[in-house]
Amino acid sequence: YAFPVFLLVRSMITLIVLFSAIIILVLALTFSNVAPEVTTHDMFPVANLGTDQLLTCNFHESSGESKITRVSVTWEKIGMKGFVYHYSDGGPDLRNQNPEFQGRTQLFPNVLMAGNASLLLRNVRSDDAGVYTCSIDSSDGGGKVNIQLRTAAYTAPTFIFSNDIMAAMANRWFPKPTVTWMDHDQNVLPGRTSLTVNSAGIFSVVSTLQPINVSETYTLRIGNELVTAISRAKITGLNVSWSTYFIFSTASSQVPSTYLSVMTTVLGIFFLM
Ligand SMILES: *[C@@H]1O[C@H](CO)[C@@H](O)[C@H](O)[C@H]1NC(C)=O
Ligand SMILES: *[C@@H]1O[C@H](CO)[C@@H](O)[C@H](O)[C@H]1NC(C)=O
Ligand SMILES: *[C@@H]1O[C@H](CO)[C@@H](O)[C@H](O)[C@H]1NC(C)=O
Repeated sequence: YAFPVFLLVRSMITLIVLFSAIIILVLALTFSNVAPEVTTHDMFPVANLGTDQLLTCNFHESSGESKITRVSVTWEKIGMKGFVYHYSDGGPDLRNQNPEFQGRTQLFPNVLMAGNASLLLRNVRSDDAGVYTCSIDSSDGGGKVNIQLRTAAYTAPTFIFSNDIMAAMANRWFPKPTVTWMDHDQNVLPGRTSLTVNSAGIFSVVSTLQPINVSETYTLRIGNELVTAISRAKITGLNVSWSTYFIFSTASSQVPSTYLSVMTTVLGIFFLM
C-alpha cells in the first residue's frame, strides 16, 4: 500500500494557495481601513459620572460637487436592545429607542450635514459604560465606528495650608485612586492619605503633607487606571495656590474594533469555504 504522494502534495498546495488568499484579503481590508468613511476623535472616552459626555462620530464631509442630500444616523450600544438614538428623514425617530436613553441623548442637526454625527449623552451613569456603534447611511456613502465608553468619577483637589501642614481634598473618585506627593524634583514624599467610600462606592480623598517648605512647589498625583489628576501646589508665604490637569488612559481592555472586524471577516471566509 503506497500512499499517493502527489495527492498529499496537491492538497498542501491547495492549502497554501488558500491561506495566501486569506492573508492578502486581510491585508487589503486592513489597508482599506486607513481612511475609513466614518471616524471618531476619541475611541476610548472616559466619562465623569453625573456629567454629560460627547461621543464623537464624523463622516466624510460633503465637498462642493458631492453634497450630502440624505443621511441617517443610528447609535446603538452592543448587547442592548433598541437604539440609543436614531435619526433619519431629517429628524429623530425614537420609536425603538431603549428606555435607558430616553431624554438623555441628542445629536446636533445643525452640524449633521457637515459630517458631524456626534452624540451627547447626558447625566452619565456607571451602567452607560460599554461599546457604542455609530452607523451612517448617507447619499454620499456610509460606514460605522465603535466607541468604547468607560465611566469614572474624578474631581480636582483643593488645597489648604496651615500650621505647617498642607492638606488636599478631592471628594469624588472612582475607581479607587492612589495618591502620591512629590517635590519639584519628582522625589516621592511621605504624605498621609485617607480614603472614605460612600454608599454609592465613590471615594473621597484627604491627604496631608508635612513638613512643608515655604516657596516650594509640590506635585500631587491622584489617579486610577482610567484617569489621573496632576496638581501643582505652590506655597507663597501663608498661602497656597494650585492648578490641576487630567490625563485619561487610552489603553483598552477590549480588542479594537478594526481588529475585530478583520477577525470576523476571516471567520466569515472560513465559513464560506
Ligand atoms: C461636532 O459637534 C459637536 C456639537 O456641536 C461639537 O461639540 C464637536 O466639537 C463637533 N465635532 C467636530 C469634529 O467638529
Ligand atoms: C525643604 O528644603 C530643604 C532645603 O532646601 C530640603 O533639604 C528638604 O528636603 C526640603 N523638604 C521638603 C519636604 O521638600
Ligand atoms: C495671601 O492671601 C491674602 C488674602 O488672599 C493676601 O492678602 C496676602 O497678600 C497673601 N500673601 C502672600 C504672601 O501671597
